[in-house]
Amino acid sequence: MAHIKAAITAVHGHLPDYILTNQELEQMVDTSDEWISTRTGIKERRILKGAGLATSDMGGEAVKGLLDKRGIGPSEVDMVLCSTVTPDMKFPAAANLISHKAGIKNAFSYDMNAACSGFLYALVTAANYVESGRYKKVVVVGADKMSSIVDYTDRQTCVLFGDAACAVMLEPTQEDVGVMDHVFGSEGSSWQYLHMKAGGSLKPPSHETIDAREHFIYQEGQTVFKLAVTKMGDISLEVMKRNNLSAEDVSWLVPHQANMRIIEATGRRMNLPPEKVMVNIQKYGNTTNATIPLCLWDYEDKLNKGDNLILTAFGGGFTWGAIWLKWAY
Ligand code: UT7
Repeated sequence: MAHIKAAITAVHGHLPDYILTNQELEQMVDTSDEWISTRTGIKERRILKGAGLATSDMGGEAVKGLLDKRGIGPSEVDMVLCSTVTPDMKFPAAANLISHKAGIKNAFSYDMNAACSGFLYALVTAANYVESGRYKKVVVVGADKMSSIVDYTDRQTCVLFGDAACAVMLEPTQEDVGVMDHVFGSEGSSWQYLHMKAGGSLKPPSHETIDAREHFIYQEGQTVFKLAVTKMGDISLEVMKRNNLSAEDVSWLVPHQANMRIIEATGRRMNLPPEKVMVNIQKYGNTTNATIPLCLWDYEDKLNKGDNLILTAFGGGFTWGAIWLKWAY
């Protein structure tokens, strides 16, 4: 019997209605549309507004849309995996709440956190469940309400992030498509360059941590930038090399959307022309776990069965990775 592979058979996202433009940010902090556009490529991002709305609301909508699109009933889903850094609560997992909101009752679900590389790690984890032969319909959701951990008085970070969720369906196939290979890496010694100072077991929430504004993203941008540029290119080339893929063989680069300059540098390092590089950072900013599936969703109608895609990300931890994916429809 041929080896079972895990193929993406549908993708669907959810974007909150509210659009936060660079012009509105100019009214909030000392910044300019010109600075944000030239340094990051971002023009606008979506923000989830409204009391009582959280990551799982966006994730639930994305999954409901995904099931409708693929014609799969909620009761058929075996497993739901959510990658997020902004779960609704520390526990239970956002994946449990997403399943509940999407009417999924016969599945087990849990969250994964690898910062901006989370969706890639979740995709490969989910693919392993499918490849085992035991699970037939596995949903992977990348979802983040980044606005819940952004300090809108800090111009260095508040211009970067947005809210969104996007989900893919993974199903078994015996064709030569799906998740083909990956190279992942992480190292914790550089955690201090990108993290949230308080709210975890190291520094539980207190009046002092609130007063010190420690419940927000802290990033030393330049350090992260330099490493992201090198790592995303290197790791993508590594996954290509070990599978004998040339730049001509690659149909699309699907990079994490953190900065347009990082995206362009990664494409150049891989020798890919700009028209093979997926970009939507101008519309959504950095949505952390949702960036990569949102690219697949936006470019879905340009994809053909058998296309070779290289998905790559770099994020807090540090974590990084690249996946070779063959598009299945
Ligand atoms: O997704 C997880 C991984 N994250 C990333 O990959 C992000 C990586 N880092 C970056 O994308 C970039 O480092 C940033 C976009 C965060 C910053 O861009 P940069 O070109 O590295 O700028 P910088 O931090 O070196 O700052 C340059 C100048 C500084 O002013 P001085 O010291 O030269 O006078 C900043 O204070 O730009 C200033 N600045 C701003 N000015 C206007 C920083 N933020 C802003 C702002 N508006 N929003």
